[in-house]
Amino acid sequence: MSRAYNFCAGPATLPESVLRQARDEMLDWRGTGMSVMEMSHRSDEFVQIAETAEKDLRELAGVSDDYAVLFMQGGASSQFSTIPLNLLGENGSADYVNTGIWSKKAIAEASRYGKVNVVASSEDSGFTTVPDQSSWQTTADAAYLHYTPNETIGGLEFDFVPDSAGTPLVADMSSSMLSRPVDVSRFGVIYAGAQKNIGPSGLVVVIIRKDLLGKARRETPTMMNYQVIADNGSMYNTPATYSWYLAGLVFKWLKEQGGVKAMGEVNLRKARKLYDFIDTNEFYANPIDPRFRSWMNVPFTLADDALNGEFLKGANARGLLNLAGHRSVGGMRASIYNAMPESGVDALIDYMTEFAKERG
Ligand SMILES: Cc1ncc(COP(=O)(O)O)c(C=O)c1O
Repeated sequence: MSRAYNFCAGPATLPESVLRQARDEMLDWRGTGMSVMEMSHRSDEFVQIAETAEKDLRELAGVSDDYAVLFMQGGASSQFSTIPLNLLGENGSADYVNTGIWSKKAIAEASRYGKVNVVASSEDSGFTTVPDQSSWQTTADAAYLHYTPNETIGGLEFDFVPDSAGTPLVADMSSSMLSRPVDVSRFGVIYAGAQKNIGPSGLVVVIIRKDLLGKARRETPTMMNYQVIADNGSMYNTPATYSWYLAGLVFKWLKEQGGVKAMGEVNLRKARKLYDFIDTNEFYANPIDPRFRSWMNVPFTLADDALNGEFLKGANARGLLNLAGHRSVGGMRASIYNAMPESGVDALIDYMTEFAKERG
């Protein structure tokens, strides 16, 4: 068996030791004679798995008892409507910052439920920068302020947490969760689709300040009502048990790596290495304002687009997979989440060096 370096933006590479453990426990979880997949979600065994995962996540991310942690389904996209349904109230409005394709999707969905004020946008720059917070036109009565700390497609990442002046701050941390330390107490809601730094797709982790529970609009589907999900320990219906278990294994792995701070240091080193290489090799380019370059998703172009196919073919042949940029933007993108080892970045740089030498 050989493992490739998988640079996919999501579903993304998982730690090999996690996959091995899942394999070893597949048929018989710790002497129960059952796979986790086959267990009742109400069983003592699964409740223990679920509670341990939540405890480890709380410890890793520094989540206090003022917050509920929910393990929901439907991916991050379902949260684009769950958030307004729960937080907007009957006639409320919300502020949104538009820094890329995922922000736009969140804005479009929220607009179905109430007034959305786009308080800042970097669309004019082609989403290559984050608008300075001094220019944001926030509204005093907004129910919340939503932003996307890391735009997975554009490779644009905030290097600061916005000051929301008392308005609950809501963040789509799908592609940056657990990649570096974040002060959770600054946020009203954090949500993250699992398939980058947490586990399998479909699962979405929501961290919500408890005073924001219980405000859902009447028509909110029960399965989208944060209060209901919190009251039922994320088991109002049958949760995504196996994904929850795998997320728990990833949290344990992250603790073994030294936690989020240690991981952040490795992530910064990996990202710097790759951007430094791109900046010094004239065959490659990255368009993002250096201050806001993503640590997780590194888009780059070749000097000649006509060589894209050849570049990807050569990369695949070396076991460097899924480097094509998002279909909406083209070019290349290397996603280097927590589970991508530094040796993967080194292998990519070696290949890029060679390719530029031969074809540049
Ligand atoms: C920042 C961000 N938000 C939302 C999503 C949508 O997630 P899902 O496919 O889980 O709905 C993604 C997916 O890649 C993402 O990167």
